[in-house]
Amino acid sequence: MIKNLNPALFERLLKIDPSPNFLEFLEKPLRKSVRINTLKANLDFVVNRLSAILEERVPWCEEGYYVNTEELSSIPEHPLGVVFSQSSVSMIPPILMELEPKMTVLDLCASPGAKTTQIAQYMENEGCIVANDVKIERINMLISNLQKCGVLIAKVTMLDGRKFAKFEKKFDAVLVDAPCSNLGMIRKNFVYAKQWNLKMSLHLSKLQKELLMTGYKCLKPGGILIYSTCTLEPLENEEVIDYLLRNTEANLEKIELPINAIGGFTKFEENSYLEEVKKCLRIHPQMNDTEGFFVAKITK
Ligand SMILES: C[S@@+](CC[C@H](N)C(=O)[O-])C[C@H]1O[C@@H](n2cnc3c(N)ncnc32)[C@H](O)[C@@H]1O
Repeated sequence: MIKNLNPALFERLLKIDPSPNFLEFLEKPLRKSVRINTLKANLDFVVNRLSAILEERVPWCEEGYYVNTEELSSIPEHPLGVVFSQSSVSMIPPILMELEPKMTVLDLCASPGAKTTQIAQYMENEGCIVANDVKIERINMLISNLQKCGVLIAKVTMLDGRKFAKFEKKFDAVLVDAPCSNLGMIRKNFVYAKQWNLKMSLHLSKLQKELLMTGYKCLKPGGILIYSTCTLEPLENEEVIDYLLRNTEANLEKIELPINAIGGFTKFEENSYLEEVKKCLRIHPQMNDTEGFFVAKITK
């Protein structure tokens, strides 16, 4: 498969991570994982009940488990929303948001709702989540997942996220889980490798900067803003965080999690980024046998 990569992407991936097992892991099938939805059932009860399919716990997420089956639809807990199929690295952003009941939270790019439903779980269904997405066909999936998981506190909106800039300082916590080139998900679906071109990443980088600046505006002083992507492309990661730091008074926080990761790059090709961006986490597939992921924790 990797030998079918377009040469420009192959060269770029090797610049991002020259380690020998990086490309090897991009080809390995992805371990499936679920998050147990404590809005629907008690965690220990579900762990006991599903002991035949649950394997090791995801080290950074108390409710996350790797599973030994591809066929989750065969267990009733899945359509009932008791377990939610979710990649283990995608469980990270809500964990970093330090959520509590009664907060007012903005999920700017929310569909299909894996993280929105996890946010509601940590807020114990008390407070308010504004769950926004721009695409009607994805909004339908979001609403269906919110309903399935028993989320009662989400207000769904369908807007270009950049339009939220007028809701200045209204939210205790904001998540910008941005649209991206999905290079971290090649091992799940090779189509992302086929679709990639540099122009697309440059275009996305501009949109991501605008969405992140909007998320920062919406945040109350003292609040937490998380930026995440499932791509390994620096233009869509460090470049975006560097832009926020240079244009606002945002603080970047160090992230402490039981996960193997490296810090953000301070240099890539001809671009240099602030030293601060080392506080971001880059999670490459071979480091924990997961998808690739990038995450930054920002405070105001
Ligand atoms: C990475 S996905 C979000 C995944 C979601 N947070 C989850 O955990 O299930 C990015 C989302 O951003 C949405 N999107 C793209 N452009 C947007 C925009 N300008 N404003 C708001 N959402 C946008 C896409 O429709 C897509 O659903």
